[in-house]
Amino acid sequence: MLPNSLYSIRTTAVLVAWGAFLGAGGSICAADAAAQGNPLARDESAVQAGDGLFHERCAVCHGQRAQGGMASNLVQTRTVRRGSEDALFRLIRTGIPGTEMPPQDDLPDERIWQIVSYLRSMALPGQQPPLPGDVVAGEALFRSAGCASCHIVNGSGGFLGPPLDSIAIQKSSEEIRKDVLQPSASLAHGFETIAVETMDGRMVAGVLKNEDTFLLVVQTPDGQVRTLLRSEVRSAEMSAKSRMPEDFATRLSQRQLTDLLAFLDRQRDPFTPVVRGFAVY
Ligand code: HEC
Ligand code: HEC
Repeated sequence: MLPNSLYSIRTTAVLVAWGAFLGAGGSICAADAAAQGNPLARDESAVQAGDGLFHERCAVCHGQRAQGGMASNLVQTRTVRRGSEDALFRLIRTGIPGTEMPPQDDLPDERIWQIVSYLRSMALPGQQPPLPGDVVAGEALFRSAGCASCHIVNGSGGFLGPPLDSIAIQKSSEEIRKDVLQPSASLAHGFETIAVETMDGRMVAGVLKNEDTFLLVVQTPDGQVRTLLRSEVRSAEMSAKSRMPEDFATRLSQRQLTDLLAFLDRQRDPFTPVVRGFAVY
């Protein structure tokens, strides 16, 4: 691609830069902590510009939507998902010496940040540009349409469904939209629906909160938590149906849905996911 001589000049420059970077040694973390992060962050036009640039310069190796090809899937890699934005910036700037991963030393900082914005938006739900819509109207609707009777936001609300304070960093906007319009398409973990019949003929239906060899813990729609001994249970049936109403698609206008989703998109309280294994390494 590049004339040989030019390539070797570049490579040398990069090795020096990389050496200086590594030479900073233990202070890398300190530098990260003091660093500013991406000044463009979730700006919509930055993400779009980054998408264009990615197409021109990166897609040939990393795939059209950064999902891998000749080189790694960047949507899943730890470097993009967990690393700091500053470290990602430096990596794109310098490339990875000794590998096919080329430096981008002809681009101004702003253009590199655009690529960072794009990659983060692809890899992490909470990094997508803010959804348009009237957030205040969305919040009012959240209360008037009954969502708040089952979901906590800002410290108040019901508990039959999961709290939604951090929903926008846990799920992408498409997933949230689907949760609202087709609740039973996938049930939130820890909120699966169960119907139990006891030996003495009582029916207890609700959300299965916990279970072990001896017990089932079921929360009923009135908010009570019932602990049932397995020995007194005649049958227990899990259901693929959500306890959430299925008819919001018809009850809400387009406009209302837009506002509601914009409100949910602003729910970004810090959240610590449970990490299982090393699947995203
Ligand atoms: C000629 C092919 C090629 C091109 C073009 C390319 N890369 Fe890479 N990239 C690679 C290879 C190969 C690796 C893995 C290097 C290694 O062995 O560690 C890599 C690694 C990476 C990583 C680290 C991935 C990880 O798993 O930690 C990131 C981030 C990355 N590239 C981003 C980009 C971006 C952004 C562009 C465009 C500006 C780009 N790459 C262009 C080949 C390429
Ligand atoms: C009768 C109770 C109830 C009402 C009313 C209700 N939900 Fe839910 N919601 C649930 C339950 C239970 C779940 C968990 C099961 C599932 O994933 O469907 C849930 C799941 C969700 C999820 C996915 C949460 C996650 O962590 O994956 C979202 C988003 C959501 N509801 C939004 C809404 C919105 C917006 C409204 C109002 C338009 C609403 N809900 C009304 C009970 C309710």
